[in-house]
Amino acid sequence: MSAVAAAAGATAVPVQYDEETIKKFAIATVFWGVVGFLVGVVIAWQLAFPLLNLDLEWTTFGRLRPVHTSAVIFAFGGNALFATSLYVVQRTSRAPLFGGRAMGSFLFWGYQAVIVMAAVGYVFGISQGKEYAEPEWYVDLWLTIVWVAYLVAFVGTLMRRQEPHIYVANWFYLAFIVTIAMLHIVNNLAIPVSVFGTKSYIVWAGVQDALTQWWYGHNAVGFFLTAGFLGMMYYFIPKQAERPVYSYRLSIVHFWTLIFLYIWAGPHHLHYTALPDWAQTLGMIFSVMLWMPSWGGMINGVMTLSGAWDKLRTDPVLRFLVVSVAFYGMSTFEGPLMSIKAVNALSHFTDWTIGHVHSGALGWVAFISFGAMYYLFPKLWKRERLYSLRLVTYHFWISTIGIVLYITAMWISGIMQGLMWRAFDQLGYLQYSFIETVEAMHPYYVIRAIGGVLFLLGSLIMVYNLIRTVRGDIRTEAAFARPIGALGAAE
Ligand code: HEM
Ligand code: HEM
Repeated sequence: MSAVAAAAGATAVPVQYDEETIKKFAIATVFWGVVGFLVGVVIAWQLAFPLLNLDLEWTTFGRLRPVHTSAVIFAFGGNALFATSLYVVQRTSRAPLFGGRAMGSFLFWGYQAVIVMAAVGYVFGISQGKEYAEPEWYVDLWLTIVWVAYLVAFVGTLMRRQEPHIYVANWFYLAFIVTIAMLHIVNNLAIPVSVFGTKSYIVWAGVQDALTQWWYGHNAVGFFLTAGFLGMMYYFIPKQAERPVYSYRLSIVHFWTLIFLYIWAGPHHLHYTALPDWAQTLGMIFSVMLWMPSWGGMINGVMTLSGAWDKLRTDPVLRFLVVSVAFYGMSTFEGPLMSIKAVNALSHFTDWTIGHVHSGALGWVAFISFGAMYYLFPKLWKRERLYSLRLVTYHFWISTIGIVLYITAMWISGIMQGLMWRAFDQLGYLQYSFIETVEAMHPYYVIRAIGGVLFLLGSLIMVYNLIRTVRGDIRTEAAFARPIGALGAAE
């Protein structure tokens, strides 16, 4: 079967797909998204007004920050990846989920348990202190079991496929699942202090620990926040645009170059540290090379609209998907730039990094997930279309303004912060005290928090729209007469 037909997942014999599991993951995506954005907004205001730490240990920035990062990456992003990967693999393989309903329920509840255990732990101060790998050993062990089941379900479904070809989106999803398993296990090798205790010690020490951590951290970005979402891009953009992927050959080159290069780039997080200089330079060179496959993928995603650009005017869901790819291009230009040691000397430790993170996180990860959810909800609940396309447009613009406020405030604040730290007076003394740099950042922190509120507001509009869609309501909107995501379009 041709790649195009595989993308369309044309069905000859009806297959009983497990859609109940996908529905649950889709609802969880939206739910955890709102929770994660809300906590993001809270910690953003805390940075602007420290009084909001409330002087309680459970509500301090230090404890809520990992609640935010885990909620948005693993709960929102993770559930979106589960929902879409299990949907896509079934459709493009024309095979039901391996393991059936029982497997689906185990994956869903098992993964939600990971999220809840991790978040409760953070609030009570239980943490390994490794960024993006904060949960303690008992959560790590449980996640390993759930993740292996995920791999079995995914590969099992692929092996049952009635299509000779494995569609490219599945390659990206599979790379994400396999690599995250490897990263998770190696970075979390720890010895618990006692069987019933919540404390453990990592087996790695000193600079080896740092390198392992950032090999993990960077590839969490590369495989969790990138490869999996590229799988989403390769399925949902062609579907929503009703066009084949621009170049299937490019998608394969994109896949192999991306996974080969990403895995070496971690040391760019450890410039000017005790890590040997050659390792830092290696990380930098691989990061710069990573620009090429990243942009190859971006071009492939955007060019899929060739001949269908007019749809951007009428289809706000497609707008979410395509703009997300543009943000992907932006953050994968900025990343290689920041990995150059001379640039990193300025950017490291500053808000520039936070700006970079959120152009990727809000613009790329969240936007493509919103697009995928707007596509999936009417399909899964068998509704004619979304309740309101006008509300999707409002969501799009309010969030876009939120992102622009967030990232421009962080770029200005970050570069200013870096320049102030390194400014010397004529006598060779530091020109600014640390507190002066903190004071200078205050207005930008307020702007960032306002941007966050807008982003949250946009997501609440989406929740309302999706609830009404599930209820089967349709808003009459003359300006958006074209039914989008309507049933009857090729599956
Ligand atoms: C309403 C939206 C959001 C707001 C207001 C927000 C706010 C924040 C704030 C204030 C921080 C701490 C920055 C610091 O320590 O200086 C942060 C960190 C972070 N956020 Fe968000 N965030 C939002 C959405 C997201 C999303 C959707 C993602 C990912 C998909 C994300 C991923 C991260 C990550 C990875 C960090 C840690 C960055 C680092 O350590 O360099 N955020 N966020
Ligand atoms: C070619 C692609 C990319 C490269 C080479 C790259 C490079 C970098 C560099 C050099 C840093 C700063 C390290 C430091 O000074 O500590 C960084 C931080 C970060 N980037 Fe990227 N980036 C890329 C794409 C992305 C994308 C698409 C996302 C999000 C979806 C992302 C998320 C992050 C996060 C979360 C951090 C903060 C890590 C931390 O310190 O906690 N990056 N990246």
